[in-house]
Amino acid sequence: MCGIVGYIGTQTASEILMAGLEKLEYRGYDSAGLATVFDHQIYSIRAKGKLYNLRNKLAQIDMPAPIGIGHTRWATHGKPEEHNAHPHFDSQQRVAVVQNGIIENYRELKDALKAKGHTFTSETDTEVIPHLIEEVLADPRAQRPFTPSPLFDAVHQVVNRLKGAFAIAVISADHPNEIVIARQGAAPLCIGFGQGEFFCASDTPALVSHTQAVLHLESHEIARLTHLGVEIYSFAGERLNKIPRILEVSASLVDKHTFKHFMLKEIHEQPGVVRDCLQAYLRSDWELEPALAKTDALHPAPISSGQSPIQLGLDAALYDNLAQVQIFACGTSWHASLIGKYLLEQLADLPTVVQYASEARYAPAPWRPNTLTIGVTQSGETADTLAALTMELQRSQREAAQSPVRLLGITNRSESSLGQLVPNLIDTRAGLEVGVAATKTFVTQLIAFYLLALDLAWKRRTLPQDRIQEIINGLRQLPGKIELILNTQGEKIEEFAREFNETQDFIFLGRGINFPIALEGALKLKEISYIHAEGYPAGEMKHGPIALLDEKVPVVAIATPGSVYEKVLSNAQEAKARDARLIGITPKEFSAETDIFDDLLPVPLVEELLSPILNVIPLQLLSYYIAAHRGLDVDQPRNLAKSVTVE
Ligand code: G6P
Repeated sequence: MCGIVGYIGTQTASEILMAGLEKLEYRGYDSAGLATVFDHQIYSIRAKGKLYNLRNKLAQIDMPAPIGIGHTRWATHGKPEEHNAHPHFDSQQRVAVVQNGIIENYRELKDALKAKGHTFTSETDTEVIPHLIEEVLADPRAQRPFTPSPLFDAVHQVVNRLKGAFAIAVISADHPNEIVIARQGAAPLCIGFGQGEFFCASDTPALVSHTQAVLHLESHEIARLTHLGVEIYSFAGERLNKIPRILEVSASLVDKHTFKHFMLKEIHEQPGVVRDCLQAYLRSDWELEPALAKTDALHPAPISSGQSPIQLGLDAALYDNLAQVQIFACGTSWHASLIGKYLLEQLADLPTVVQYASEARYAPAPWRPNTLTIGVTQSGETADTLAALTMELQRSQREAAQSPVRLLGITNRSESSLGQLVPNLIDTRAGLEVGVAATKTFVTQLIAFYLLALDLAWKRRTLPQDRIQEIINGLRQLPGKIELILNTQGEKIEEFAREFNETQDFIFLGRGINFPIALEGALKLKEISYIHAEGYPAGEMKHGPIALLDEKVPVVAIATPGSVYEKVLSNAQEAKARDARLIGITPKEFSAETDIFDDLLPVPLVEELLSPILNVIPLQLLSYYIAAHRGLDVDQPRNLAKSVTVE
């Protein structure tokens, strides 16, 4: 969390930094600040709250410098107050630092600095960094010859003393022609290469309107940006030769177009991104072998040894002799993973466990050979997920040095830290998601799981070919059906949502493959509307949560015809008998059977296996409109950040 930016060139830095921070505000928005160097002085402004407060302050002063750094904060150490906002300074206001991450050993460093007479003005962990740099710069004996510059040398010495995962950018009034940046662990930082100007930022959207030539700094790398170019070194002091790559993402992607919020825009992008994702991974030339297509219940199609209809581009060794799967994820990605578990078990016959990454890190399941480990993270930057995967990578290397490392990432950002960590990736190809509440990346994570489970089913011969083809045909029809929901239900749900302006609690019920959709419906509502909501397996209601119900608590029941349809309807009846207002997510064709519902949010009829992708759409719209009617900041809900790069 937190976003950092830096600029050195010929233009006014403060404007470029401000625009960059606007693109990074999704990473945190408790407070923000800028620092520039002009005429051997540091000029800085900081403001509590959202970026517009900083912009208002900037409008009242002149900051003409062509070099500077900026920060948008998600508070970890110290309340979101102006004195805790970055940049932070040394005692003499000669060094300014912005940081994303956590300096784990800051207490001992701070105590030692205080003992030497340094005074601190914030409660942050970051403030030790400028003071440590000040110490090195002030002591001629500490400085080493043959380094690119004294500031680089000082930052280099200091980062080697810091524990934790962090990305920093440093400027100095006494070294006005350079920015020094460094990264350790899972705190992303990239460098943008312009014409005679250079940029750095926590994420590429802050760069794409200036340049598409970008280089991602890796962990334990430090770089010096000057007007002439960029020098990169390892923390060990070795000069590195790295070449930027050209980004495909265009600046217009980071735009709301005509939508009021990014979240609504991203909900409406779902038909397109599902279509693109399927097109990328399904073989267009694949056809069921005619001889194998003729089946009946007693004689299912034999399994072909031919090419799988799915082309995920993964190493073949990943699948060999697989015994089980474990999945690490957080938040919405964890919900997608629960559906992934259902698919991997039911279609590919693979026992699967899904763990919260933050839990698995400290209580890993016993190591077993032939386990495929999957990390699911849309951002590819979630610290807990990366740490759980790193732990698993190290265990695999230790326990089975001769076997392939079976690590797979599912992400929407292939260039992320996850992309650098795991050897195999499925890119969900949803395009940049800006709204903090995940929508289009969730449905494309589901598509990734359908395709993975089907590919495994094909290779492990757990499903007949014609069944695989049937599911693929069903998947191909989903974009049109999502479109139908958006076109026919959008306005109705917008109106319907007004009825919940005063509601304080919501319950979401689902079973089987739709239980995770109940969890996701509840999470979406909590995240953006601040309404207390719980997702529950419908059959578990009677074991406690039913005590919560009365006429003030709406219950949303996902009732999809299939294996647990009647059970869900019975569970919904139990809620209705306790006076709850009952809202049904169910196909229109079944409305006669579902007249128990007070309100219906209809979805097109599809087989139960594919229904989660449709059932989640009205739930996204409902949460969105409830929050929007309440006048809340849907894209940047309080206390949250899109990418959680701290533990
Ligand atoms: C944050 C976001 C959630 C998201 C979770 C996991 O908490 O607010 O919306 O689901 O991180 O993010 P990831 O990038 O790992 O999928």
